[in-house]
Amino acid sequence: MTKAKIIGLGSYYPEKVLTNKDFEKMVETSDEWIRTRTGVEERRIAAQDEFTSDMGAEAAKKALRDANLNESDIDFILVATSTPDYIFPSTACLIQEKLKANNIPCLDIQAACSGYVYALTLAKSLVETKTYKNVLIIATEKLSSIVNYKDRKTAILFGDAAAASIVSLKGKGLAIKSTYLSASGKEADLLMLPAGGSRHPASIETVKENKHFLQMQGKEVYKHAVRRMTEAIEKCLEQANLTEKDISWLIPHQANERIIDAIAKRFEHLESDKVFKEVVRKFGNTSASSVGLALDILKKENRIKPKEKILLSVFGAGFAWGACILEND
Ligand code: COA
Repeated sequence: MTKAKIIGLGSYYPEKVLTNKDFEKMVETSDEWIRTRTGVEERRIAAQDEFTSDMGAEAAKKALRDANLNESDIDFILVATSTPDYIFPSTACLIQEKLKANNIPCLDIQAACSGYVYALTLAKSLVETKTYKNVLIIATEKLSSIVNYKDRKTAILFGDAAAASIVSLKGKGLAIKSTYLSASGKEADLLMLPAGGSRHPASIETVKENKHFLQMQGKEVYKHAVRRMTEAIEKCLEQANLTEKDISWLIPHQANERIIDAIAKRFEHLESDKVFKEVVRKFGNTSASSVGLALDILKKENRIKPKEKILLSVFGAGFAWGACILEND
């Protein structure tokens, strides 16, 4: 069977840079603490009038140009985000309008930081079953809209960005060889946005209690992230009948350099120069966008050679996690 491929990639990040030094003026922290505990040096912050759909649409336009396609060539839009413009209508519908795309199905999915790999897996099924031809997937996040900048434990970690990909059976690109997805709702309360949904609708109390901001038990999340991303890498390699020696690039979710190092240490044959960390350093944790942004950077800089295999592994709230193996043409 012909495998689905990523035939176009694009990304977008806002102009405004927020450095660790800037944080020193906002909360009791230091550049040194942030770098050693997380690896993050700076992150991008969207303008007040720049929204998740705007960033997603910009990334999508670049992915379409990269694939030599027009807006009218896409027949499905799938958006992964935890920071939609609205609860409804979907951000996918808003992006369809911004792109002036045809009246095609538009759908948001919520898999938190794992959204890009979840979306890629769904897009792969949609095109391999020949239900749709060119699926546009977009991961886009304005995390600055849900981060409490007075909470030094979380604020320093996150940034805004978007990444888009076109998935199709035709054209040259990165073949999606294998994907693995999983989730466990048991740990839902370790990382969440408590209010704004049906359980805690917005009220004066929810605002006073900071329940419209992201909340996280950092230490617990850290442990699960290492364990689950390691599991996902192993399962995905096994499914594809490959070993770590076959992988040229490991792109783990760009949440924290220490998490990435802890995962890499578990794979003896993955040398450190194969493990991608540049996005976490320069953009912080951009949630669903993180691995898509990393992939776009690697591809645009021609750092992926013909026939090389790339392994993406992701983890996020839910908990939801996964991995996928791509092979360059
Ligand atoms: N600057 C300075 N000190 C800070 C700080 C900051 N930005 N944030 C926390 N601290 C302090 C704490 O208050 C605590 O002080 P105390 O010992 O006096 O109470 C101390 O540093 C240690 O805090 P702790 O929360 O135990 O730190 P940690 O080593 O677990 O690191 C994280 C915190 C958030 C960096 C770490 O838990 C982590 O990376 N977790 C995973 C987060 C993640 O990636 N989530 C997304 C997954 S999708």
